Amino acid sequence: KTTLDILGIETSCDETAAAVVRRLPDGSGQILSDVVLSQLDLHAAFGGVVPELAARSHVSALDHLIAQALDDSGVALDDIDAIAVTSGPGLIGGLMVGLMTGKAIAMATGKPFFGINHLEGHALTARLTDGVTFPYLLLLVSGGHTQIVLIKGVNEYERWGSTIDDALGEAFDKTAKLLGLTYPGGPAVEQAALEGEAKKFRLPVPMRRDPRMDFSFSGLKTAVRQMAQEQAPLSRQTIADLCLAFQTSVTLSLDDRLTMALTRFSERFPDVKAPALVVAGGVAANKAIRATLQIRTDQSGFRFIAPPLNLCTDNAAMIAWAGAERLAAGLPADQLDLAPRSRWP
Ligand code: KG4
Ligand code: ZN
Repeated sequence: KTTLDILGIETSCDETAAAVVRRLPDGSGQILSDVVLSQLDLHAAFGGVVPELAARSHVSALDHLIAQALDDSGVALDDIDAIAVTSGPGLIGGLMVGLMTGKAIAMATGKPFFGINHLEGHALTARLTDGVTFPYLLLLVSGGHTQIVLIKGVNEYERWGSTIDDALGEAFDKTAKLLGLTYPGGPAVEQAALEGEAKKFRLPVPMRRDPRMDFSFSGLKTAVRQMAQEQAPLSRQTIADLCLAFQTSVTLSLDDRLTMALTRFSERFPDVKAPALVVAGGVAANKAIRATLQIRTDQSGFRFIAPPLNLCTDNAAMIAWAGAERLAAGLPADQLDLAPRSRWP
């Protein structure tokens, strides 16, 4: 057998997911199955993810999802080459559920077991979907993370910048909440912004021209809160105007930070012919942000690569793929006493 078939499991936040991914000898990949059960409805009433509820829900759903992923893939468990499970970062209760399940399967079948960093899953997805070659730049913008990372190779990552306070998705969620919009806030803010009038409110552009490549969004959220208080009671139009102002500021901030990153990449890798910027994370769904990134990469001579949305957000195919890449690169499997890590840069 020349292919590698990997079972992936993801339970780090509010998606329970299982998948089987195949890696071919030429380095390309195929998703044989990919099942995701979102807990969005479970947490919506609380305006955010409740860790205890998330963990309990993973417990009740995970073995069914794994069975379905195997079934959909047409690969028998005996023919799986390795088990790859998210072992951090994330909510510890959920991580434990996935990790214990994955270890049990690995132990019962004697197959190698890989504990995968969730961020590595996001980082390598574009190689599965678009065959991107190393090195490339990753912009990860999700509910939990905001980072610019240089992806040099499997297990070779350099974090160039990250948020010093809130993640971008978190900032969208908190801003939505203080404006009385629904959870998750990102899509709600984007939708409301469509009706907003430009330049009605002026908000600062966080970190603009700051020589570090980092992000910051909590000051912006506070500025929105102050403006909202001054304008109370809020009309539908004012909410739309504030949403547009917020979205515009974060987009300009991303653009400013990225311009610096693309320049640094080009200086460091002058010989890379068609350099790529890959985006991942739920915020990558935002059309205004996507449009700006597209323009920026066009101007800088980069390809802009956005994997399909279901693979940008949390899923197990990316975890299985990271396992496949590790196995193929000859990296050692993990021991069964590997502990979950809530924080893991
Ligand atoms: O990657 P993701 O599904 O989950 C993790 O955080 O890992 O990202 C979810 C985040 C939420 O904060 C959500 O508000 C944000 O992505 N999001 C958006 C949009 N869709 C989802 N933010 C801005 N615009 C959107 N259209
Ligand atoms: Zn994620």
